[in-house]
Amino acid sequence: MKKQVNIEIEVYNSIDELSEKEQALVLEAKAIAKKAYAPHSKFYVGAALLLDNDEIVSGNNQENVAYPSGICAERTALFYAGSQFPDHAVKTLAVAVYTNGEFAEQPVTPCGSCRQVMLETENRYNSPMRVIMTGEKQIYVVNSVKDLLPLSFDSL
Ligand code: THU
Repeated sequence: MKKQVNIEIEVYNSIDELSEKEQALVLEAKAIAKKAYAPHSKFYVGAALLLDNDEIVSGNNQENVAYPSGICAERTALFYAGSQFPDHAVKTLAVAVYTNGEFAEQPVTPCGSCRQVMLETENRYNSPMRVIMTGEKQIYVVNSVKDLLPLSFDSL
């Protein structure tokens, strides 16, 4: 017996194909990426969140010479939103990478730890999170973190 798990990914070639609100969120992710503290990897990541009260919260990766002590952009932004706006769902997350003096050409996709935190955020507010993974040449969008983390662990 086999079980098939389908995931759905929208693919775009330019942010112009996104709504104006989403374009603004991507621009914020790009702006905050440039402010990342990433002296070790030189991989500057920005994440911007749109909350259900229309607030935009953003964050970037913060590295440390003791590598595991650093944290990714997505979790910086999500934990900040969870601290400051605990009653508001995260409707959309946009992520962008700046490296070697340019924004990455291909979409940046969140690491496993960030996906787990994103999933918990989605479950916490019982509200699907749209995730916009930007690259200059291609953009991936999913309508739920479940499309990024199939067969996830989410109950105790
Ligand atoms: N990083 C993020 O901030 N988000 C991602 O989606 C991928 C990786 C960070 C972690 C580390 O500071 C650097 O990028 C290189 O992996």
